[in-house]
Amino acid sequence: MPTVLAVVGDIHARWDDHDNALFDASDVDGVLVVGDLAGLRFGPARDVAARIARLSKRVVLVPGNHDASHAVQLLGEAIARPGLGRPFVGTQARNLAALREATAPQELGAYSLHPFGDVTVIAGRPHSMGGPSLAFAPHLTAIWGVSDLAASAERLCALVDACVTERVVFVAHNGPTGLGPTPSDIWGCDFKKDGGDWGDPDLERGVAYARERGKRVLAVVAGHMHRRIRGGGRRAWKVERDGTLYVNAAEVPRIDRDGRHHHVRLVLDGDTATATDVWETP
Ligand SMILES: [Fe+2]
Ligand SMILES: [Fe+2]
Repeated sequence: MPTVLAVVGDIHARWDDHDNALFDASDVDGVLVVGDLAGLRFGPARDVAARIARLSKRVVLVPGNHDASHAVQLLGEAIARPGLGRPFVGTQARNLAALREATAPQELGAYSLHPFGDVTVIAGRPHSMGGPSLAFAPHLTAIWGVSDLAASAERLCALVDACVTERVVFVAHNGPTGLGPTPSDIWGCDFKKDGGDWGDPDLERGVAYARERGKRVLAVVAGHMHRRIRGGGRRAWKVERDGTLYVNAAEVPRIDRDGRHHHVRLVLDGDTATATDVWETP
């Protein structure tokens, strides 16, 4: 029997009771939420997590850069002055604890393994903002002992070593490097003049290590780089490379003007993964 997962891209406050009804009535084995639950304020993000927690389907939720951080921290990271956010490191830790509590009994995914039968979902680095630096380094150091990208890659490799199934799927907030530098690439930068690969190098390393260890990496699913590109156009949302399917689920807003609700249906059948965009009208 194939394993079927629903992948929910950046929610940004677009989740309502129809989503609970749709997913609970569906045939999926689980729901992967890639983070960015709301906007700059933590309260609405916690409220979305609490709604998701009520699903009867199993959920793995990876926190995005918007989840648990203070707006000043986000600004500091965005303008490459992370020191601005230092006064809010304690706030971020408290918010993360509150997010974990709101998400319970569902699973918060952050450097963690989530077995679904003979497929393991490997949850990568939480709170990623993409690019060549580790976002929220003081927070990641305090909570997970991860102070730079090399340490994060090591952490992912250790997870691969601890994983007992051969078939794996990675889920993270942002996708890996290695899939292209132009804005229309799946995790290409659309907010710098010269573009650039805005993937996470630690995730690319973790995926490569999984292959080296004989794992069958069926899919890597993430979001963060919204599909609609700044300045117009849309990025590629799925790419197959070396037998692995890469999926960017960040369709924003995920509830459109016609009231249709978006997710990606990921079917894992033997050695292959297929992904389909689904728009449902409640
Ligand atoms: Fe987002
Ligand atoms: Fe994000």
